[in-house]
Amino acid sequence: MNLYPKTSALMARGAEFLGCDHAILCGAMSWVSERNLVSAISNAGGFGVIACGAMTPELLDVEIAATRALTDKPFGVNLITMHPQLMELIEVCGRHRVGHVVLAGGIPPKGSVEAIKAFGAKVIVFAPTIALAKKLLRSGGDALVIEGMEAGGHIGPVATGVLAQEFLPVLAEEHLVFVAGGIGRGEAIAAFLEMGAAGVQLGTAFACASESIAHPAFKAAFFRANARDAVASVQVDPRLPVIPVRALKNKGGELFTAKQREVAAALDAGEVEMGEAQLAIEHYWAGALRRAVIDGDVEHGSLMAGQSVGMVTEEEPVATIIARLMAESETALARR
Ligand SMILES: Cc1cc2nc3c(=O)[nH]c(=O)nc-3n(C[C@H](O)[C@H](O)[C@H](O)COP(=O)(O)O)c2cc1C
Repeated sequence: MNLYPKTSALMARGAEFLGCDHAILCGAMSWVSERNLVSAISNAGGFGVIACGAMTPELLDVEIAATRALTDKPFGVNLITMHPQLMELIEVCGRHRVGHVVLAGGIPPKGSVEAIKAFGAKVIVFAPTIALAKKLLRSGGDALVIEGMEAGGHIGPVATGVLAQEFLPVLAEEHLVFVAGGIGRGEAIAAFLEMGAAGVQLGTAFACASESIAHPAFKAAFFRANARDAVASVQVDPRLPVIPVRALKNKGGELFTAKQREVAAALDAGEVEMGEAQLAIEHYWAGALRRAVIDGDVEHGSLMAGQSVGMVTEEEPVATIIARLMAESETALARR
């Protein structure tokens, strides 16, 4: 018996596309979204996504195989478009017959979408504007994620509620659009589904699940935090365009400001090109996030978290979180 008939009916397109029971993606989180969390999400009826981040093709190869060993359900792989070995990473996904590849972090470079489609996988893209969304969907993107600035990690400037109102009426009838950023309860999921979303993507809500390998100190910081503690990084030098990152306030935020000054100075001195400078910033984030997630250095590492962090108060199994989100959505829809 389906406990969530109304929610499932609204999620039907998204769930069919993903090949899972509930159209709830756990957004890729570098260092956090590895074999354990990804398989747990997919085993619980959601859709897990491996965060490739800065992994080499060899490491991604191992991670996909290890995830397969833990679940026979579908899961995706998230690749960062500026990764210098993007095409090799795509080849690894092809060798493993990964069904869904998410391209994050910028406009997919020429040939990448085609290479993914060549082995029959679906391509999920991000787009900050409707014009770019249309272009990406025309040129091979099979589904779209719109992500508001409430989210954890790298963010754009517009709130989820505004993006949803702008994108969904225009795109949702013909295309599959998943909404991300700031979602902590099922009532919000119900609202986005009613607006036409095919499903939703959450990160912060799953980062501290029992199955997440994040360090106990990282999880404790989440359980203590409120929405207002999850702040966006500031750009200190107008010549160095850095994508803002939302994370819990700590010393690490100050270290990032210093890092930006250092990279901007190297740029001024002609020691690095702009592309290299931006890559240096991204490497910085990958290292800082690892320090917090893996080593548990919650002072100097990066505690990437979205504004929904205030709703994360204890460690729970993924299945419990998904069941609660579905039940909350169902109750909200039944009340209509
Ligand atoms: C700790 C953390 C790490 C993240 N790392 C990545 C990443 O490597 N690649 C990516 O595309 N998104 C990343 N994200 C964004 C998530 O995939 C997801 O879209 C976002 O968390 C959704 O918003 P929410 O945090 O409000 O639920 C990260 C988010 C968090 C909280």
